[in-house]
This record gives sequence, structure tokens and C-alpha cells, in this order.
Amino acid sequence: MGLTTREEESIKEFDQWAHNFEKSIKLPYFNYTYRKVFSLTRDYIKKGSNILDIGCGTGKFEHLLAENSPLDKIIGLDISGEMIKKAKGRPNQKIEFIEGSIASYELDQTYDLVYSLQAFHHFPDYENTVQIIYQLLNNGGKFIFLDHVNGMFTRKIACALLKIIFSEPEVEYYTIKQLINLFEKTGFKVKSQTSLPLFLYYMVFEK
Ligand SMILES: C[S@@+](CC[C@H](N)C(=O)[O-])C[C@H]1O[C@@H](n2cnc3c(N)ncnc32)[C@H](O)[C@@H]1O
Repeated sequence: MGLTTREEESIKEFDQWAHNFEKSIKLPYFNYTYRKVFSLTRDYIKKGSNILDIGCGTGKFEHLLAENSPLDKIIGLDISGEMIKKAKGRPNQKIEFIEGSIASYELDQTYDLVYSLQAFHHFPDYENTVQIIYQLLNNGGKFIFLDHVNGMFTRKIACALLKIIFSEPEVEYYTIKQLINLFEKTGFKVKSQTSLPLFLYYMVFEK
């Protein structure tokens, strides 16, 4: 099956961005999100935990987790070959990086935790993606969502501006209500949710 326009746009955008992602002025912001999500989820990570991060970028979050938690293995998946090349430049025995889209990810194992940080709005088909994530999790496993979400007033303006600033005409931001409906329809329960600075929204869905 061929790639969707949204997937093609992601590859183009992030293959370019990969070269200065960690040098960009946005790095302190990204570092803040990694630390924040780690602090909110560290209690979920047990000795032997098996973890997947969808849209892992250059893999900094993988290192934070692998170096500060008892996890067994973390896989970082990303559609951008250049992002994955950067990520592979810092090897760690507990981390594996795979190039590919979540839409065509081969289900060869299941995970205790699946993360996706600021990547969900790029995925090609949300309904299909949520079903894939559901199949990827063990029973009781959790999906950790961090992204911008649509809504009224300021969130609506923020999402419209993000699409312009990052030249991402193809992406779509769902509202909190739309996301919760989608995840619940697939069989997930909402375990926690909170607003974070800069219009970010954090949610934990449990299988
Ligand atoms: C804004 S970056 C965030 C990267 C990383 N999660 C972070 O917080 O630093 C979004 C990432 O999602 C990846 N991505 C976009 N669509 C994807 C897809 N269909 N499957 C897997 N990764 C995807 C992009 O290549 C990009 O690296």
C-alpha cells in the first residue's frame, strides 16, 4: 500500500528538520516535555517493562527513559529515515530504533506502555491508528498521549497558528472530546488527563 499525503508530508518535513532538530531554539521546550512526561509516567515503568514510542524523532526521550528507569526495552519508531539515522547515532543496548509509519507497523510483539509525544496529529488515519495502538498493548497496558489539541478560542487559534508556522497543511488537530470518543470507542478507558503549558494536553488511556 502506498503512503498517504500526510505521511509523505511528514517524511519531507522531518527528514529536513532532523539535521537541526537538536540545535533548534525549540530544544529547551522539547526537553521540558520529555522531563514532564517522564515525571508523570515514571511510576508506570516497572522492571522488565517493554515500551514503544511512536514518532520518536531523534530519540532523546528514549535515552531519558532507558537511563532513568528499570525498563527492559524501548523501541522508537519514526517515519523519517533521517530522524532515525540521528537516533541510531547514540546507541544504547536497551533502545532500538525502527524506520516506519505507525499505519503499517507489523504487530510482532505487544507492549506495557506506548508513548506518542507531539506526533499524533501527523498520523494518517486516527481511527486506524488507535486500533493499532490498542492491538499493540498488553491488557492493562497504557497509551501516553501528549500533543496539541483543538478546542474553543485559544486552542483553536493555537492549532491554526501551528499549522501555519510549521507549514503543515495536511495535519489535523482533534478536540479533547473527539479524542476521548475515539479512544473509548476502541475499548480504552481514560485513566488521567491534564492541560500542560503552551496549549499541550496530556492523557493516559488504559486498555
Ligand atoms: C514533532 S516531532 C516529535 C518527535 C519526538 N516525539 C519529540 O517529542 O521530540 C513528530 C515526529 O513524528 C514522526 N511521525 C510523523 N508521522 C508518523 C507516522 N505516520 N509514523 C511514525 N512516525 C511519524 C515525525 O517523523 C517526527 O519525527
